[in-house]
Amino acid sequence: MTRVVPAEEGAIAEAAALLRRGLLVAFPTETVYGLGADATDDRAVAALFRVKGRPAHNPLIVHVAEAAAAEPFAVFDERARALAERFWPGPLTLVLRQRPGSAITRSATAGLDTVAVRVPAHPVALALLRAVGRPVVAPSANPSGRVSPTRAEDVASELDRRVALVLDAGPCTIGVESTVVDLSRPDRAVLLRPGGLPRSELEAILGPLAGAEPGEARPRSPGRLASHYAPRLPVRLDARAVAPDEALLAFGEDAPEGALATFNLSRSGDLREAARNLYAMLRAADRSGARAIAVVPIPSEGLGEAIRDRLARAAARRPEPAVGGAGG
Ligand code: TXA
Ligand code: MG
Repeated sequence: MTRVVPAEEGAIAEAAALLRRGLLVAFPTETVYGLGADATDDRAVAALFRVKGRPAHNPLIVHVAEAAAAEPFAVFDERARALAERFWPGPLTLVLRQRPGSAITRSATAGLDTVAVRVPAHPVALALLRAVGRPVVAPSANPSGRVSPTRAEDVASELDRRVALVLDAGPCTIGVESTVVDLSRPDRAVLLRPGGLPRSELEAILGPLAGAEPGEARPRSPGRLASHYAPRLPVRLDARAVAPDEALLAFGEDAPEGALATFNLSRSGDLREAARNLYAMLRAADRSGARAIAVVPIPSEGLGEAIRDRLARAAARRPEPAVGGAGG
């Protein structure tokens, strides 16, 4: 069983030493728990892809303690600088052009000439990154395609002994992954993944964001692949009524009655509270003994866009039936 330890000073120092030795450590961010590896260590990054069961063509986000630490490997234009200044540390990932000769190992960026960068707003994540003194790749600490973890115990139950250490700092405050914006082309800003930073905040600075082009041969951000963030049970969206053998994810005061089990994302209709509860409640619904999970309609403003995106992917048809919990 993996060691789960409170994220105190000594534990953070130990986690940093493990990362520097090429091992994998899970740690909290404000969005979700990440599974970290030294971004400059090809073997560590290879182990990370293996442990997650992640396809090699899906690039990772490089985490740094401050924007200046990304300058050696990423090219910031004026837009990128403005966003970094305004929103970092925070739930925003920038896809930028990568500098030639960058120290980031090629497998981390799936061989692309771009690199995704983020400065997380969590004191433990920042302390860890400073102690490591190197860029750290960190995908969400779940098997690829499954529900992301927002609590240390969820990391431990699914990735267990393949992770050297899990730093526990309690539940994540935002609860959905960072917003990913592609600024690698000077003429376009593309929203690759809605997330913890609402679109409106970005558009106030960048103007209207372009959507990703659906026809592209190769997905720019495979986190956008149809089935992702998936529990084991089938998910039914926009439910206005519920069957007695379904679990219900509700939102607001008047939830449909009669579900086997009901989990209310936010009784008061607060989308930030709903984002914070989303993954833990999806997990609870998954374990409830129901036949399926029904979800009421969720508004699309603010964090609602990210919540709806994750639920749509949780509901998307799976390429194959999920087997034993370690889907692709
Ligand atoms: O909130 C978060 O971003 C969390 C925490 C741990 O920081 N991390 C996270 O990582 O969600 P991951 O690996 O689950 O999602 C990374 C997303 C994927 O959709 C990936 O395809 C995209 O970022 N991505 C990474 N590098 C990219 C690149 N160069 N171009 C386009 N998309 C990229
Ligand atoms: Mg993920």
